[in-house]
Amino acid sequence: MLKIINASKAFLAGTPNEHVALKNVSLSLTKGEFVTIIGSNGAGKSTLFNAIGGTFWLDRGKILLQGDNITYMAEHRRASMIGRLFQDPVKGTAPDMTIEENLALAYNRKSKNGLRIGVHRKDVQIFREKIAQLNMGLENRMKTKVGLLSGGQRQALSLLMATISTPRLLLLDEHTAALDPASAEKIMLITKNIVSQESITTMMITHNIQSALKTGSRTIMLDRGKIILDISGQERADMTVPRLMELFSQQSKNTLDNDRMLFVNN
Ligand SMILES: Nc1ncnc2c1ncn2[C@@H]1O[C@H](COP(=O)(O)OP(=O)(O)O)[C@@H](O)[C@H]1O
Ligand SMILES: [Mg+2]
Repeated sequence: MLKIINASKAFLAGTPNEHVALKNVSLSLTKGEFVTIIGSNGAGKSTLFNAIGGTFWLDRGKILLQGDNITYMAEHRRASMIGRLFQDPVKGTAPDMTIEENLALAYNRKSKNGLRIGVHRKDVQIFREKIAQLNMGLENRMKTKVGLLSGGQRQALSLLMATISTPRLLLLDEHTAALDPASAEKIMLITKNIVSQESITTMMITHNIQSALKTGSRTIMLDRGKIILDISGQERADMTVPRLMELFSQQSKNTLDNDRMLFVNN
């Protein structure tokens, strides 16, 4: 489904500040697989997502998505196949447009009829049903401007928008990190429901190790641009947070103290 082969990416190449953010990363995901990704700040997690999403091109390596070589495909073309969510709820939605206009935008952009604009009456019912599944009462506020919603509500809407036409791949970059604990928990629940209902191949970056081990079926740890751990099945089921931290300190030359991921257990 997703195949990354020998991906490398350096920033500020050829300058004294050159930083190699991805070093020869190879990774294969099967269809419907849900992989969680952990690693300390600056490990290259977001860079990996940016490379897959087409924010920039790799220096070396290849990315195949469902058989298509997308290595040099423009970002806007990848966006029709890859759903993305970021930490900041503001990034996924248009604040001055209503809930139904936002959903229509996502729906029309990703449907075959890409040139359709506006909200079509027969689509509104589909949107209303989808949004009712969030259990946030938003189905009665379809004409409310999105800028008036809470962060959690906006992130739930972003999630719907990213998946309204089932994407080949869903990339979640710490998409609950900016929310209060109750909203974060709710968004995680909605995420798991949508992903499993549609069997969406998903990668989720999180700094919450506990959540990384409990969510999805496989966990990868990145460190200094390399995958240093890739666990699934029984090995993952038996994994504990202390054991993972121990493995991290064995594998990584990074010091553990100023590492935010190790202190978060909520
Ligand atoms: N656009 C960029 N220009 C320069 N350096 C960057 C850029 N994006 C990321 N980096 C650097 O690459 C490294 C990896 O960053 P990132 O992938 O964002 O880490 P994280 O694992 O925390 O998501 C960091 O050292 C970061 O400063
Ligand atoms: Mg990041």
